[in-house]
Amino acid sequence: MCGVGEQSAQKTFYLETFGCQMNVHDSEKVVGTLVQEGYRQVETVEQADLILYNTCSIRDKAEQKVFHRLADFKKLQAQGKKFGVLGCVAQQEGEKIFERAPHVSLVCGSASYRNLPSMLVQLEAGKSPAAATTPVRITGLDDRQTEECFETEFTARTNPHRGYITIIEGCDKFCAYCVVPFTRGRERSRTSESVLVEARQMAEMGYTEIQLLGQNVNSYRDPTGKKSFAELLAAVGEVCGIRRVRFTTSHPRDFGRDIIEAIDAVPTLCDHVHLPVQSGSTRILEAMQRLYARDEYMERIAWIKAAKREISITTDVIVGFPGETESDFSETLNLLDEVGYDGVFSFKYSARPNTPALNLDDAIPEEEKSRRLEVLMAKQREIQISRYKKYVGQRCEVMVEGKNPARGQWIGRTSQNKTLNFTAGGSQQPTVGSYAPVLVTASFPNSLVGELVM
Ligand code: 5AD
Ligand code: SF4
Repeated sequence: MCGVGEQSAQKTFYLETFGCQMNVHDSEKVVGTLVQEGYRQVETVEQADLILYNTCSIRDKAEQKVFHRLADFKKLQAQGKKFGVLGCVAQQEGEKIFERAPHVSLVCGSASYRNLPSMLVQLEAGKSPAAATTPVRITGLDDRQTEECFETEFTARTNPHRGYITIIEGCDKFCAYCVVPFTRGRERSRTSESVLVEARQMAEMGYTEIQLLGQNVNSYRDPTGKKSFAELLAAVGEVCGIRRVRFTTSHPRDFGRDIIEAIDAVPTLCDHVHLPVQSGSTRILEAMQRLYARDEYMERIAWIKAAKREISITTDVIVGFPGETESDFSETLNLLDEVGYDGVFSFKYSARPNTPALNLDDAIPEEEKSRRLEVLMAKQREIQISRYKKYVGQRCEVMVEGKNPARGQWIGRTSQNKTLNFTAGGSQQPTVGSYAPVLVTASFPNSLVGELVM
C-alpha cells in the first residue's frame, strides 16, 4: 500500500502562534493532540484543511495582529477550509469573534484545550451541537471554572534538546492592568510526580535542558502536598541527563529564599532569574495591585545577589500606567541602576478589557508613554553595555543552539541566558545541542562574542 494515498486522505492543519512561551508550549501540546486525533501538520495555509491561530491579547497590538491575519485569510474559506481561534483572544472575545470574523468556526480558550478532541469531532461533523442548521460554531470557553490542567500523552516539541514543561496554569493575582486572569483561568498546578515523570521521559529522549513554565511559576502548589516549588525545581535539576533547568515567570510576592538555596545546592539550575518588577514606585505598584512594595522587591534582589554563583537578573517594566508621574517614572529609572539588570522587557501601558485599570483616571498621553519608553530603553542599554563588558576574558559554557552561516558563527546560550556567538577553528566544529566552552572576546549590549576553546 502506497503511503502517499494514505497521506492525501489525512486531515491536515496549519497552526500559527502569537505571544508568550506559555502559548508556544500550549501550541506544542495542541499539535500533539491533533496528531493523536489523526491530523497531519503542514507548513502553509494553502495545504491545510484546518487553520488555527493560537492568539495573544496581553497588549492591544498583539490582538490587532490576530484580527488582521484572520481577515487576510477570509478568502480561503471558499476552498472549504475551516478556521479556529485559540488562546487568549479566543477566551477574551468569545462568541464575538464569530461576528467579527464569520469564517471562523472554532473558538477555544486555553482552559478548554483538554476538550479539543471532542470539539474536533464536532467540527468534522460540520454542525454545532445546538442547531444543525446554523453555521458551524464551536466554542470552548471554560474560563475560570476549570480546575484541570491540559496534559497530553504526546507533546510535539519543536526543539530536540531543550523543552518546556508547564507546571502551573492560570493566574489568581489580578494585577490591575492584566488580562491573563480572565483569559487563562484560575491558578491550577500539576502534581510534582507528573512533572517529574515528564522530565524523566524528556531526559530519556535526549533532552538536556528543561524550562519550567507558569504565569507565576513560583506560585506552584503541589496538589499532593509533596513538594514546594523550590523542591520541585531541585528535583527536576537532579533528573539524570538534565544539564540545565530554567523557570519563568516568577512573581516577586511568592519569591522565597528557598529558590536561591536550591540554585546554590543544585548546579544544573541556571544562573538566571526573571523577576518582573513593573515599576520602581511603590505608589504605582500599589495602584497596579502588584502585592509588594519597592523595598520588598529589593529584598528579593538582595537574596539573589547573595547567591554563591552570580545570577543574572532580568525583568519586565510597564511605563505610563495611569497616574504615573515624572517622579514615579524616575524611581523606575533609578531602580534599573540599583538592580543592574541584564535585560529588561519594557512596554507602554495598554488598556485591556475587563481589567480594573480600565476605570482609572489620569491616562498618560501616548506620546509621553513613547518618550518614557525611549528614555528607559536608552538607560538600560547603557547598563547592559557595562554589564556585558565584564564577561570579556571569561570562559563560559554554552549550549550550542545553531549556526549563522552568513557570519560563520555558532550561536550559543550561557547558563545566565545570554547569547554568545562564537567561532570554532578548523576541525573543532561543535554540534547543535552540545555544550561547549567558549572564551568571550567581545561584547555588545545584547550579546557576547567568543571563540571555542577545547
Ligand atoms: N500593558 C502593557 N504591558 C502589559 N503587560 C501585561 N499586561 C500589560 C498591559 N496591559 C506586560 C507586563 C508583563 C508582561 C508579560 O507584559 O510587563 O510582565
Ligand atoms: Fe498578569 Fe499579574 Fe497574573 Fe502576571 S501576575 S499574569 S502580570 S495578573
